[in-house]
Amino acid sequence: MNQQSIKNSSRANNRVCIPFKPIEGYYLVVIGSPVWAGKSTPAIRKFMVTNDFKESDVSLFVTSDGNKPEKSLGNMKAAVIAKRIVSEYGFIRPMREQEQSAQQVKTWCDEISKSTKS
Ligand SMILES: Cc1cc2nc3c(=O)[nH]c(=O)nc-3n(C[C@H](O)[C@H](O)[C@H](O)COP(=O)(O)O)c2cc1C
Repeated sequence: MNQQSIKNSSRANNRVCIPFKPIEGYYLVVIGSPVWAGKSTPAIRKFMVTNDFKESDVSLFVTSDGNKPEKSLGNMKAAVIAKRIVSEYGFIRPMREQEQSAQQVKTWCDEISKSTKS
């Protein structure tokens, strides 16, 4: 692990380093975050802005307690440099209606799968 990947994998508070594999080479990267104060969490934001997704399709999702995930998804979209954003989804209170959430995930995965084939 080189210095850059250690830096990239630092958690937002910079106290804990969790190494992860370099992101290059994946044809699809799915990035998700809970909404905190209308935005993605600091650690996910850091992951988005310190990695280069120019060679990858990216799908974005958030989980939230509110009914308007568009703003936080918009912020995430603006933070990512991707070849293409193929799909985005807001899961609202996913743990409350778990069967419904599972169905939404399945439908969304099918949508991503179709989009990445086109
Ligand atoms: C610190 C904090 C801030 C949050 N801010 C928001 C918010 O601004 N809007 C919102 O819809 N949900 C907000 N939530 C709710 C989380 O987005 C929601 O609990 C999470 O996405 C669902 O995942 P969980 O089932 O693991 O809690 C917040 C939660 C926490 C802990």
